[in-house]
Amino acid sequence: MAIKPMEQGEPHQDTDKQLSARIPVAAPVLDGREAEYVAECMETEWISSNGRFIGAFEKAFAEFCGVKHAIAVNNGTTALHLALVALGIEAGDEVIVPTLTYIASANCVRYCNGVPVFVDSDPQSMNMDPAKVAEAVTDKTRAIIPVHLYGHPVDMDPIRDIAKQHKLFIVEDAAEAVGALYKGKRVGGLGDCATFSFFGNKIITTGEGGMVTTDDDDLAARLRLFRGQGMDPERRYWFNVVGYNYRMTNIAAAIGLAQMERVEEHLARRAVVAASYKKKLAHLSQYVELPVTANWATHSYWMYVITLKESVKKSRDEVMAALDRENIETRPVFYPMHQMPPYKEDRGYEVADHLAARGINLPTHGRLTERDIDRIVAALERAFTD
Ligand SMILES: Cc1ncc(COP(=O)(O)O)c(C=O)c1O
Repeated sequence: MAIKPMEQGEPHQDTDKQLSARIPVAAPVLDGREAEYVAECMETEWISSNGRFIGAFEKAFAEFCGVKHAIAVNNGTTALHLALVALGIEAGDEVIVPTLTYIASANCVRYCNGVPVFVDSDPQSMNMDPAKVAEAVTDKTRAIIPVHLYGHPVDMDPIRDIAKQHKLFIVEDAAEAVGALYKGKRVGGLGDCATFSFFGNKIITTGEGGMVTTDDDDLAARLRLFRGQGMDPERRYWFNVVGYNYRMTNIAAAIGLAQMERVEEHLARRAVVAASYKKKLAHLSQYVELPVTANWATHSYWMYVITLKESVKKSRDEVMAALDRENIETRPVFYPMHQMPPYKEDRGYEVADHLAARGINLPTHGRLTERDIDRIVAALERAFTD
């Protein structure tokens, strides 16, 4: 597919306002049939969790991931919880999770009264380090949650070997990685099941929304059962299990289907943004580490992450504040789970602690222009050298 270059902006349109407008760290791109499909929901009055868009979105998403089943839910956190419930994770079960992730990856284990067991990260990909995963397995371990952080896939082969050896489930947390490839295969079909988020800042969005994907027919049936309050599919209003209402609305699915129709373009635009950052930040290599993509990976660039080197005398937060003063929004790399009150541990995790202290997410989305990137790079240069 031809990759459209980023908007260059028209020089004669420059105004002080345009040049100083705030650059958000993330922004949805809703330039397909989103509005038309949402209008159809309104006109037909299919606004709740029945309607043609749910099935159509699930089908499009399953095909895209190369899996048999996709089950739409109301966000990425419920997707994770539903996956663990459907796999039968129970009180006291241990689940191995990277400490460097978004808190939902750990919270879902707690929702099941399980115990998240944290592991350190690989310094290049920022993902869970498979060697650390092997060390963390105990008699109580039931599952591993590899998180494809910021869009870089986890090195899954060693994780799958560990899971096979110890009979553990794998739930990919692919919230940030729609479209990423591991050794040529899309994330979403690399474990027992995978979960996705479609929050407004994600690669594709439904406002709030999520998905669970799997190739396993029985697991898919359990996911659908628990998503819909546990209602017996053969007998309306009869419940054999305690389920949840984690359904997605037809309106959200309408947006999701429109997003899927252009998913390759959404991904291509992010790839262009990442390539532009790589080129334009090259001269700042004494100050920053740029993301490295493993040779077996295709990164989907949810967020472009830079890590400040020791030569930067300002703290990470001072650099972010300097960008903020120039009207550029950034985000700190996630605080590792073991540093925060719900999951506080006395020990440190060397790699995750370093990445979290020095990492910054630069604006990454499909509406960034070359001029925006030039502004961001110039602001970084000033922050490093002032
Ligand atoms: C790694 C990861 N897992 C899970 C989630 C949860 O998704 P949601 O915000 O849709 O509940 C997110 C969302 O940001 C995430 O980044």
